[in-house]
Amino acid sequence: MRMDRLIEQKRDGHALTESEIRFFIDGYTAGQIPDYQVAALLMAIYFQGMNRAETVNLTRAMAESGDMLDLSDICDYAIDKHSSGGVGDKTSLVALPLVASFGVPIAKMSGRGLGPTGGTVDKLESISGFNVNLSEAEFRRVARDCGIVIAGQTKSLAPADGLLYALRDVTGTVASRPLIASSIMSKKLAAGASGIVLDVKVGRGAFMKTLEEARALARTMAQIGVDAGRDMVALLSDVNQPLGVAVGNALEVAEAVKTLRGEGPADFHRHCVEVAAQMLRLAGTGERWAELEETRAEVDQVLKSGAALEHLQRMVKAQGGDVSQIEDIRKLPQARLRYNVHARQSGAIAAILADRVAWATLSLGAGRRTKEDEIDHAVGIEVFANVGDEVAAGDLLMTVHANDDGSLQTALEELGGAVAYSASAVEPLPLFHGVVDGREL
Ligand code: URA
Repeated sequence: MRMDRLIEQKRDGHALTESEIRFFIDGYTAGQIPDYQVAALLMAIYFQGMNRAETVNLTRAMAESGDMLDLSDICDYAIDKHSSGGVGDKTSLVALPLVASFGVPIAKMSGRGLGPTGGTVDKLESISGFNVNLSEAEFRRVARDCGIVIAGQTKSLAPADGLLYALRDVTGTVASRPLIASSIMSKKLAAGASGIVLDVKVGRGAFMKTLEEARALARTMAQIGVDAGRDMVALLSDVNQPLGVAVGNALEVAEAVKTLRGEGPADFHRHCVEVAAQMLRLAGTGERWAELEETRAEVDQVLKSGAALEHLQRMVKAQGGDVSQIEDIRKLPQARLRYNVHARQSGAIAAILADRVAWATLSLGAGRRTKEDEIDHAVGIEVFANVGDEVAAGDLLMTVHANDDGSLQTALEELGGAVAYSASAVEPLPLFHGVVDGREL
């Protein structure tokens, strides 16, 4: 097999066979195929796309380029979730303890964030001492002892994806549907999941700006999972405005704790109920959790009761974190400065631009611009209004938490045009735009 032939084949719009895809992934992972040939093939894929069989073969080859986690000693059925990333998205911190509180074990590997906000492991590192770098033996022990573990992704998980992603990043080939879908799904397959709930974000605060793009990506990812023998469901959720109130690592942990006590913002509470109910639907057997409406009600009750908080506390303790910060969220990192932003005028809130809020949060130091950047866990923004709310001039809209005057000023400039008002009533934004059910693919 020759790499130049594969490039020509894809350039001319022909499909690659399973063995050709294996040849390129295995050869590149082993350092036997040079970057320039792989970059050329990626560009050909970018323009020509891939059919369903090619996409699943690519994903499988990437997943199998490293360790494939076997979680069968921890649970009969491993359930996982993945969010494509949105502003204020701290859903994993609530939905996972919530699902674990139903006796469904959670053993999850999560990523770090690059860009406007941190990933789940960055958020968890707001808790003093919390260790996300677990060995496989520790990962399994915490999962068995606590029923829940969340750790960072190990380097041996889908190494081909790490290599390809770095190359895509510098060759203009990130924004390709089969490449994004295979990248995300290779890590999910390698992490041992039997069932996966995808939370595909759409809107100004997300990677996918239109519903069409988000739906197409959700379908491709769900198809990959189904073809690889997994149970799949994908939610299409709106992030034109931030999810919940808090944006920024420690603020988001605090909001997750409040939500687990049944005191979270209504939109975020509902979002977590939906994700958890979908996870339980996949994990349930027979009649158990088969009826989504009933499961939602059951999950809502548990969330309101505060019973799931114990699972977060157990996990924090087992992973070396300071549980007193969960018991008393005022002990989480606090920024030095707080600046309140008030409504400029009376009327209905027509928009709270999630991307503006995200960039302002990044200016404060809550996210990374490069992989090497250090995160400031204390800083962030609380956004108290939602689209559709009626406000009076002078009402509190946001609190900016900053650690220095310079970054505070930059953040306030970013926030300048983030809120739009309307003299007439405005419909609230939907939380979800739809569902892609793997059983229908
Ligand atoms: N997230 C990933 O893991 N991979 C992509 O290609 C895009 C987003």
